[in-house]
Amino acid sequence: MKTDWTEDQVSRLFDAYDDRVEARFGYQPLIAALKDAHGTAISVLDYGCGGGKVSRRLKAAGIARVTGVDIAPTMIEKATAAGSSDDLRYVHIDSGTVPFADASFDAAICCFLFINVPERAELRRITAEVFRTLKPGGRFYILDTNPRTTGVRYPTFQNGHPGVVYGDGDARPVFLDVPGHGTFDIIDTHWDLPTYRDALISAGFAIDETRELSVADTLPVSPGEEQPDDLGGHAPFVLFKASKPQA
Ligand SMILES: C[S@@+](CC[C@H](N)C(=O)[O-])C[C@H]1O[C@@H](n2cnc3c(N)ncnc32)[C@H](O)[C@@H]1O
Repeated sequence: MKTDWTEDQVSRLFDAYDDRVEARFGYQPLIAALKDAHGTAISVLDYGCGGGKVSRRLKAAGIARVTGVDIAPTMIEKATAAGSSDDLRYVHIDSGTVPFADASFDAAICCFLFINVPERAELRRITAEVFRTLKPGGRFYILDTNPRTTGVRYPTFQNGHPGVVYGDGDARPVFLDVPGHGTFDIIDTHWDLPTYRDALISAGFAIDETRELSVADTLPVSPGEEQPDDLGGHAPFVLFKASKPQA
């Protein structure tokens, strides 16, 4: 059974999860790519923002305006409680619709969202909604777990069991290490890479790059940070870069 992200206990444990591997090997390369493409004087939509960890990192990286949206009221409450302003706002949404006009944003991101959406049609609705609210020429970045490295034990998490082959759309257990709690077990949906591409293309996006992120892509989270975690040569995450054609 899929994890219910609107449950308070789920949002509490996800918030307490130490996301240093995601930060170093996923969020930082994503933010660097976004800044390279657009600079910082932009408005960014963070779709499926959770407790706002990535929105806050975007803001800390100098992005002018960040809007986080999520279906879980508890997540939006947590994100807002951690600090919001006119330039860092959080909005609760119904699945697949956002209350913003066409062409509102310069760029959009979604991090670890697809794996939490079990219906293919819903993936398409979300992608179409991002397309609608992006300006022509705007870019959409999807960061997610790499479906090609399930079963690998990473320093802070494991997606799926070793030796099990997951099919497109299968439920897949995920084990997150939460300090002071132990393992937080959730159920994700395994999507193969073509499913991401199909959702993007069906919405009208051009796919610029699909990249399995690994040690070569890492960026330090803060100056003087200790050595990065050893990933044993595996790429834990995948980053899709797509763009909305100019009108
Ligand atoms: C694994 S968390 C990731 C949160 C954040 N992006 C991050 O990387 O820290 C997935 C989030 O997606 C949200 N979510 C799940 N289905 C959604 C949907 N259909 N529309 C919007 N948000 C959704 C959940 O409530 C949860 O906050």
